[in-house]
Amino acid sequence: MGHRLDGKVAIVTGAGSGIGRAGALLFAAEGAKVVCADISGDEEKTAAEIGAAAVAVHVDVSVAADVEGMVTTAEERFGRLDILFNNAGIGGPKLLVTEQTEEAFDHVIGVNLKGVFLGMKYGIQAILRSGGGSVINTASAAGLVGWRKNAVYGASKGGVIQMTKAVALDYADKGVRVNAICPGMTWTGLVPDAKEHPDPPADVPMPYQPMKRWGLSSELATAALFLAGDDSSFVTGVALPVDGGYVCG
Ligand code: NAI
Repeated sequence: MGHRLDGKVAIVTGAGSGIGRAGALLFAAEGAKVVCADISGDEEKTAAEIGAAAVAVHVDVSVAADVEGMVTTAEERFGRLDILFNNAGIGGPKLLVTEQTEEAFDHVIGVNLKGVFLGMKYGIQAILRSGGGSVINTASAAGLVGWRKNAVYGASKGGVIQMTKAVALDYADKGVRVNAICPGMTWTGLVPDAKEHPDPPADVPMPYQPMKRWGLSSELATAALFLAGDDSSFVTGVALPVDGGYVCG
């Protein structure tokens, strides 16, 4: 058990799986109380794994009332909010823009972009009531460079990066730091094979990333921990690639 987040209260969205689950477990191991939020039901499992320092909240991050309720739960249950990890997201259909449906556009933008907006809208009010804190938004390498057949997903993640920078400026002198992590291809529930194999099998290659391997949820969680705690006290407005070098090339 580390002590980097002793006394802090964190919300993690998408805490039922992948990067969010790893983040929730790591934040708790570092001393934080954690609100585990997800739409899947698996938020209950993550919260149970953590124990008394966690509470599960069933939310759709694209619904304002759910997000407001999630923030209220943090304050009612644990008395404050210091850290908001806006991580929930979906991939959406991988199609040419000419083939994408309007419904898929609205869904992906609703979860990935509006979800982060709502999280910050309600979460930052609570963080300010606690005297300041840290917001971490999960964007993507796809928000920094183009990915084929990912126009809508890329737009949602590019939007998350720009929103992160604008909000970072607005709160830079008010004690709230706002940063983004940009995962490269990471072995999580977003990868179909990961449901069967918790760790990336050696025979599933990842040629696109210079390190020639998949990222692990735990490697994204440690980046989020750095941004969540005082180790990054002078860092705000960054979009940090955690991608084995992917966006360099
Ligand atoms: P995951 O599928 O393992 O976890 C995402 C979680 O978000 C799931 O538990 C899901 O139920 C939850 N979720 C989806 N829609 C929701 C909603 N409307 N409200 C509340 N929760 C919702 O996938 P992963 O990879 O851990 O995803 C986390 C973030 O990382 C996402 O924002 C994703 O876009 C981003 N990312 C992932 C990459 C990868 O290669 N896995 C690459 C770049 C970004």
